[in-house]
Amino acid sequence: MIFTSISQGLKGELTVPGDKSISHRAVMFGSLAQGTTSVTHFLKGADCLSTIQCFRKLGVSIEEKEDRLLIHGKGLHGLQEPSGWLDTGNSGTTTRLISGILAGQTFSTTLNGDASIQSRPMGRIIKPLEHMGAQIISLRQNGCAPLQITGAPLQGISYASPVASAQVKSAVLLAGLYADGITSVTEPALSRDHTERMLESFGARIHVQPETCTASVEPDPVLLGQEIRVPGDISSAAYFIAAACIVPNSEVLIRQVGINPTRAGILQVCKAMGADITLVNESSKEGEPVADLLVRSSSLSGTVIEGAMIPTLIDELPILAVMACFAKGVTIIRDAAELKVKESNRIDAMVENLSAMGAQITATEDGMIVEGGRALQGAVIDSRLDHRIAMSFAVAALQALGETKIKGASCVEISYPGFYEDLKSLSV
Ligand code: S3P
Repeated sequence: MIFTSISQGLKGELTVPGDKSISHRAVMFGSLAQGTTSVTHFLKGADCLSTIQCFRKLGVSIEEKEDRLLIHGKGLHGLQEPSGWLDTGNSGTTTRLISGILAGQTFSTTLNGDASIQSRPMGRIIKPLEHMGAQIISLRQNGCAPLQITGAPLQGISYASPVASAQVKSAVLLAGLYADGITSVTEPALSRDHTERMLESFGARIHVQPETCTASVEPDPVLLGQEIRVPGDISSAAYFIAAACIVPNSEVLIRQVGINPTRAGILQVCKAMGADITLVNESSKEGEPVADLLVRSSSLSGTVIEGAMIPTLIDELPILAVMACFAKGVTIIRDAAELKVKESNRIDAMVENLSAMGAQITATEDGMIVEGGRALQGAVIDSRLDHRIAMSFAVAALQALGETKIKGASCVEISYPGFYEDLKSLSV
């Protein structure tokens, strides 16, 4: 797909699709609840559709209506053995969270996904789940999918996770629903807490100690179907925040975006960089805070992004690297080695592609260093079929000289069907 720079500012309003993390969890917890869960503003991206297909195969009836998803839950112990293997597509969240659920069933399941999923580390969930008593085999003995999971009686554990990962935390807490006692997870820094918030709203007994980054779950709750309105995904809004900041004469209003503090690190970093963002219309929807974001063109400065901030903006680091190219001075991203094990190695993908556009960017062991202020040139970009890389470069292309060609651009379907149309709608 070919992109060119634009000469006028971005103007207008938009509503980004529903939050990907929350959409996955709505399907999963709705499936384990008694009664019907109704979900509006559900993200119909390929990743969340993978979650729907997996739960359908586990015997859950899920209706896709025009304006909502209806999940007819089976209760905590009502899933059925699937007739074949479960396809988790490109979705790490589906693969890891469902593994926690499957560990506590009375049947055996095989999970597999695409080439990216087959190279992502699953040892991080296999280890704690085995510690609880689960039987999980990496069929190629490489710590990756395909995984064969045989349900077993589980014991509650206190797990100190070496990584701040909501996927690891959630897999262990979900297995904890089936354990014989309390299950706790302590992380080195607080990762997104959508599982804790939503499980509690379904009726689970959850205890959180933010000061020690610990979350615990009591076993065998009665989960009851809920009405959920999914907030706009801040990870999707991030591309429009960046675009409005870097394109002169822009003013964009992004409506009803989730601003959960464990997800909204980008807002803090943007503020530190001097971005002109105003939060309006703040409210709370089913335990998740939301706001409209008014973003105007900004004169940006470099910053340091590190430490406990990293898990709160992990998926936004590629687009922040693009913003850093338009900032005065140096931006340092560190403590972010997790970027190497996302849908692609995002350190390599950003450094290779931004360098091709003429940016001054260096890879480090756990991040990147960007020296802002160099004009970007159009280039051929390899998205590595990673949705966040493709969207980041569609934004970079808005301010690059000449044409930018993004290979594999349609991979944005994973998290944002209609992304290019929405971006275009702001430039007319
Ligand atoms: C997610 C957690 C994050 C994030 C991913 C979605 C989730 O992964 O990168 O896109 O929904 O729990 P990790 O938990 O592995 O950091």
